[in-house]
Amino acid sequence: MSLAYHRHWLASQRTPVPEIRHSFAGQTVIVTGSNAGLGFASAKHYVTLGASKVILAVRSIDRGNAAKARIEDATGRAGVVEVWTLDMSSYASIKDFAEKAKTLDRVDVLLENAGVMSFDWNLAVDGSETTMAVNEAQHHTRPNHCVLRSPSFYQSRRGIKSGDVLASLDEEKKFNAFSRYSVTKLLELFYVRELAKDLDINTQGVVVNIANPGMCYSDFGRDMGFVARSFLATVRWFIARATPDGARTLVWPSTAGVAGHGKYSLDCEFSERAVSRFVRSEDGAKLQKTLYDGINTRLEKARPGIVKAALGA
Ligand SMILES: NC(=O)c1ccc[n+]([C@@H]2O[C@H](COP(=O)([O-])OP(=O)(O)OC[C@H]3O[C@@H](n4cnc5c(N)ncnc54)[C@H](OP(=O)(O)O)[C@@H]3O)[C@@H](O)[C@H]2O)c1
Repeated sequence: MSLAYHRHWLASQRTPVPEIRHSFAGQTVIVTGSNAGLGFASAKHYVTLGASKVILAVRSIDRGNAAKARIEDATGRAGVVEVWTLDMSSYASIKDFAEKAKTLDRVDVLLENAGVMSFDWNLAVDGSETTMAVNEAQHHTRPNHCVLRSPSFYQSRRGIKSGDVLASLDEEKKFNAFSRYSVTKLLELFYVRELAKDLDINTQGVVVNIANPGMCYSDFGRDMGFVARSFLATVRWFIARATPDGARTLVWPSTAGVAGHGKYSLDCEFSERAVSRFVRSEDGAKLQKTLYDGINTRLEKARPGIVKAALGA
């Protein structure tokens, strides 16, 4: 990564995150992975901003209930937060969640925040590597507005093998602990950019975009070994954003309406310049389309008809 890149990253980390003055009154918001870290702070912020229903989509009901109690205490608003089970490493759990979500009168915002960074080869319930399974399996519900999150500095080809990229990510002998997280984030970015082309906002009424919170304080990295955790703690001490600041960068795109469709946001601004040259290049565009098609094939295998239904085709 170039010096210019690092300068840009540091400048972004030091950019103050604006307050959000937007009302979500009457709206229903779902935040995945919202019992801790940025997801928790984002869910709390939606409650503060007046949302009528905020669903904490979490894999542990106990941790979810504890988070709900903390949000109610902090905001003084009861009867808004609900806790629903969702384990992003299991297609069955995602399907159950999506079926339950169909019973809602409306879904205005889906903040797909849940994510992991695993330095070990672990298999998820359905047999994919865990980081890949959790960070990538995000595309099953159909809200009016969908925000995913992705760090900007993970936008190079590093860790992407030639050949069948998705199949290679399922091979233990090709697992690289250092690049796996970045690859999953690159796939998210590709997916959102390509999906936005297929989703006509005028006919579908769904806005999809992706937000980069920057490096923030959270529980992220709790599964790392001592050395990696100490390194991360040191870097955080110098430059990390406070968790509520990071959360505002995730909430902000959902205030922007159709202007944000398919866009990448950094520091509460949509910025194509913040997307790497590789992603914007011709090679990047080809890889983007190939991976988008590959992920959709996998989604179709897990749930036939899902892609057509999501695209309203
Ligand atoms: N913190 C940063 O500097 C930073 C920077 C850029 C992007 N991000 C992204 O921001 C998102 C949130 O990260 P964070 O920093 O807030 O991390 P965090 O504090 O570790 O929170 C992660 C959340 O995801 C949940 N989660 C993990 N695996 C799950 C699964 N299989 N199903 C459902 N939920 C699951 C966790 O639940 P449990 O408590 O049950 O494990 C937790 O609620 C991630 O996608 C991360 O990649 C973070």
